[in-house]
Amino acid sequence: MENTNILMVCLGNICRSPLAQGILESKVKDLQIEVDSAGTAAYHIGNSPDPRSIAVGKKYNIDISRQKARQFSPSDFKAFTHIFAMDRSNYENIIAKATSDEDLKKVRLILNNQNDVPDPYYDGDEGFENCFTLLDDACHQIVNSLHNESR
Ligand code: 4NP
Repeated sequence: MENTNILMVCLGNICRSPLAQGILESKVKDLQIEVDSAGTAAYHIGNSPDPRSIAVGKKYNIDISRQKARQFSPSDFKAFTHIFAMDRSNYENIIAKATSDEDLKKVRLILNNQNDVPDPYYDGDEGFENCFTLLDDACHQIVNSLHNESR
């Protein structure tokens, strides 16, 4: 599992992907895996995660408060071995920047059932709770598949 680096991508990099990063980091603490996140849009570059994402993370003992939003860059195809998109629109935006089959092969939707992780930005707290539940389950499955890949 050495040389595995995982990038979580959403639109703004303030709601979903910071939580995905924090959750996965908490599950791979003992492994040499780098986890990062980015947004396809530039709106929130340099901003902290949304306070509602910070709050739901904190509720489950995951501290994402020190993260800062950044924009996805084509150089991320070189830097990361796995790139997980939160929804189909993020997926399309990422693959539009791919320049090789190798790049394309790194990109997946984070939910195995190919559903979107709904954007909670305009929702209430339940949206963030739902987002946490979906991402916690997805990250659990990512860890299992990394173990299988390394066999
Ligand atoms: P995220 O949520 O993609 O999960 O970070 C959003 C955050 C901000 C906006 C949209 C989605 N926005 O339009 O500013």
